Amino acid sequence: MVKQFAGACLMTLLAAGTASFAQDAAATYKAKCQMCHGATGMADTPAGKSTKARPFNSPDVTKMSDDDLIKVITDGHAKMPAYKGKLTDAQIKDLVAYIHTLQK
Ligand code: HEC
Repeated sequence: MVKQFAGACLMTLLAAGTASFAQDAAATYKAKCQMCHGATGMADTPAGKSTKARPFNSPDVTKMSDDDLIKVITDGHAKMPAYKGKLTDAQIKDLVAYIHTLQK
């Protein structure tokens, strides 16, 4: 009985933790990235097309490692702005995890 209860509590905690992570990263993405990368990461916005952003699920992007993605977000690349000093390392890591959810 006690064990079951503890299990249920842990599940609730885990679920809550995941939800707040997803919400934070999703909100940051929506505010700062969506205008170029699109709501679904397809880069199908006018700004995405004019800056030549690639869909996150294209092979060029899916073959990149997390470190590669973190580097592009931190330091920028071509028309991709650098977010060094504007986002924390933790926020950038969460965004990479969020991008992976858009790659499915
Ligand atoms: C002004 C438009 C613009 C904004 C805003 C923008 N990006 Fe980008 N992003 C680009 C472009 C263009 C590229 C492709 C750069 C290149 O050619 O290497 C890119 C590349 C990337 C890449 C590397 C993989 C790829 O698609 O080439 C990641 C990851 C990425 N952006 C994440 C983000 C995140 C996270 C944000 C918000 C914090 C963001 N971007 C905001 C335009 C933008």
